[in-house]
Amino acid sequence: MAVSPWTPPLQSQQWRSYSASAPVPARDPSFAQLTSDDVRFFQGVLGLGGVVTDDDLLAVANTDWMNKYHGKSKLLLRPRTTEQVSRVLAHCHERRLAVVPQGGNSGLVGGSVPLFDEVILNLGAMDRIVSFDEVSGILVCEAGCILEKVDAYLAERGFVFPLDLGAKGSCQIGGNISTNAGGLRLLRYGSLHGNVLGLEVVLADGTVVDTLKTLRKDNTGYDVKQLFVGGEGTLGVVTQAAILTPPKARAVNVALLACASFQDALTAFRLAKQELGEVLSAFEFFDRTCLDLVLKHHSAIRDPLPPEEDGAPPYPFYLLVETAGSNQEHDSAKWDAFLEAASAGEVVQNGTIAQDAGQAAGLWAIREGITESLAKNGVVYKYDFSLPVTDLYRLVEDTQQRIGPLGVAVGYGHLGDGNLHLNVSAPAYSDALRARLEPWVYEWTAQHRGSISAEHGLGQMKPHALRYSKADSAIELMASLKRLLDPRGILNPYKVLPDEADKRDATSKKQQT
Ligand code: FAD
Ligand code: MLT
Ligand code: ZN
Repeated sequence: MAVSPWTPPLQSQQWRSYSASAPVPARDPSFAQLTSDDVRFFQGVLGLGGVVTDDDLLAVANTDWMNKYHGKSKLLLRPRTTEQVSRVLAHCHERRLAVVPQGGNSGLVGGSVPLFDEVILNLGAMDRIVSFDEVSGILVCEAGCILEKVDAYLAERGFVFPLDLGAKGSCQIGGNISTNAGGLRLLRYGSLHGNVLGLEVVLADGTVVDTLKTLRKDNTGYDVKQLFVGGEGTLGVVTQAAILTPPKARAVNVALLACASFQDALTAFRLAKQELGEVLSAFEFFDRTCLDLVLKHHSAIRDPLPPEEDGAPPYPFYLLVETAGSNQEHDSAKWDAFLEAASAGEVVQNGTIAQDAGQAAGLWAIREGITESLAKNGVVYKYDFSLPVTDLYRLVEDTQQRIGPLGVAVGYGHLGDGNLHLNVSAPAYSDALRARLEPWVYEWTAQHRGSISAEHGLGQMKPHALRYSKADSAIELMASLKRLLDPRGILNPYKVLPDEADKRDATSKKQQT
């Protein structure tokens, strides 16, 4: 594929250059060390089964999904009730024990694992569906419910969870809310900021905040629950959620289309919005290298669109397009119009439409298999950007140009949301490659008015880069909220906010004088 050269900044903007590698913070000495008295206290609250000190189980809980971030926690707690969460946090607050809230541990920015000896508070044992209203579609469930199980529960009742993602078999609703996960159908159902109607949250000092409303409209002052949607476990622990769920579509159609250029992919997106309109439910893209990786690491998957002529090069770009409507005849007419428009002018070179649910799942397996294939292929530098769609793929090309033979840059993601997953696959992590990538890749994004995190969050990977996407005034407000809700900074320290430990020190010094 032709690689275009790196171009200088489009316009001068307010971004600054930071160090080439993410600074590794030192353990905050103001946090207490865990004692046997603490463990006995937790056993009294949670019972022996809720307090895990087994080395093998701790090793799993200390390691993230990518095997990139490793903590050293000696204690994993598994509460079963909100009251238990509250008593645990009140004790940690009192003792200044740092805590990492953890859901399915499928996060991709190291947010769910400790850096040092933080206590891990896993919500997985709080997995009850509390209520479901089949008229309004409003679900109330505990935070530890696994997304796929909730979706299956809803499907039996003719509804669907308004979020879907490749990690659905392990991620939890509390984790989804705390990362404000975007996923495969945000284009259709919108963000969790809109679909979460209410939350029950436990603050760092054990206070239970009840905003668990099941109303679509509630203009009674500040919408405080929104602070915890995308809060990444730094402001409170989500224990229950009320979620608006849409009806399950009766007519679902999925197609995989091949394009000769990214420009054609963008034209196809414009046509899809025009012709498929309100039934369009997903518009995903991936490049050929992604497909090659999936074919390499998933022996059961075959290339669904081999080039039509022998010896012709493979198509460079693929689109997974889905519609979800209520009337197959109506939707088929829309598809006919879309495919006719896309074929004219050869916007789309080739394509296949799933004939049944099994084939549709097969096409989705390709798109959802990219993350795992990259993980199997070596190490991955994972980036998750929001960008103006027209600039989106140029970042992949510029990255490949910049890193040369040090790695392979691939691009995939939620084109319909302007969300690029730029991943760089390499045989091993290296300072040389990292220094080529960062902070350059964040600068590129800032210059194009993008966001350094579209959906994965900041975790421990990106706090130092936050200033590329947020104004100082906004970061200062975030830090003030953190100090208000968690004055001792025990909840998920070293994550999200830059230099939070420094700020805390400064505050406590100010208070002492
Ligand atoms: P965890 O990873 O356990 O935690 C994530 C963050 O939330 C941490 O900061 C943690 O402290 C906090 N947290 C967890 N539970 C709570 C709680 N109850 N209260 C307070 N804080 C809490 N993400 C997307 O946005 N879109 C995708 O399409 C997508 N696809 C993925 C595909 C794969 C194969 C994988 C491995 C990951 C994918 N992800 C995606 C990332 C990840 O799955 C999501 O971020 C998911 O929402 C995390 O949920 P979790 O339960 O695993 O949370
Ligand atoms: C996806 O869209 O596949 C997920 O966000 C995971 C990833 O970025 O690999
Ligand atoms: Zn994604």
